Amino acid sequence: MCPPRYFEVSYAINPWMDPSQPVDADLAMAQWQGLRDTYLGLGHTVEEIEPQPGLPDMVFAANSGTVIGGHVLGARFRAPERQAEAEHFRRWFAEHGFRDVVMPQEINEGEGDLTWTGDVLLAGTGFRTAPEAHAEAQEVLGVPVVSLRLTDPRYYHLDTAVLVLSPARDGEPAEVVYFPEAFTEGSLRVMRRMFPDAIIAGADDAAVLGLNGVSDGRNVVLPAQATKLAEQIADRGYEPVPVDMSELRKAGGGPKCCTLELRA
Ligand code: ARG
Repeated sequence: MCPPRYFEVSYAINPWMDPSQPVDADLAMAQWQGLRDTYLGLGHTVEEIEPQPGLPDMVFAANSGTVIGGHVLGARFRAPERQAEAEHFRRWFAEHGFRDVVMPQEINEGEGDLTWTGDVLLAGTGFRTAPEAHAEAQEVLGVPVVSLRLTDPRYYHLDTAVLVLSPARDGEPAEVVYFPEAFTEGSLRVMRRMFPDAIIAGADDAAVLGLNGVSDGRNVVLPAQATKLAEQIADRGYEPVPVDMSELRKAGGGPKCCTLELRA
């Protein structure tokens, strides 16, 4: 995670961002600390990277890479405003014992668009990560990749449209929740085929970035405003853990965006 010390909305690269709207930096920091403390309270380990002035979106650590089985595929951002973030994260990985770190040739916004289900890597495209990055991810990470196309600019990253609740195990598919309207017709058919028992999120929950959550297989940390979704996942036996990330949502991010998972 990266503390939002230099967080602001000074440019607009997604429809959530409006530089004319004020952002409360202290509140953003308090909400971010609340998220970090939530993870610590659940017994997880949190590593922190030093934020950099002039990189206000660096708080969205999920975009900085994808880590599976200790292999790291770094990031290459589409927007010029974010491009310098990639090198700071590359250095962090190198200095923290990750020996296999590959920087992508293709535009690749890390876990923003790449979602590990435990047996396949779901890979989004349409707004940010290039389709060619999907094949590159398969070669670098050595996992099968399924490409999915996003169609609604509000859901510009795959992690705003799908959330893995528990990973695939013993030949059973992962349990996921997704928002169908975020996908093209063909990609939606892929989702239905792969996840026939998925929870289907509603438009109201998607519109508060409710799918931008993090599950450890039991506890699901998700935006507090996604109240219907919290009920849906509780009905499946999960523990919803609401967090308020309203200030960071002004940049188009939620709890998942602030969290890069380090899979040993
Ligand atoms: N302002 C950031 C951007 O548009 C938000 C990134 C959100 N991250 C995510 N994983 N969806 O790039």
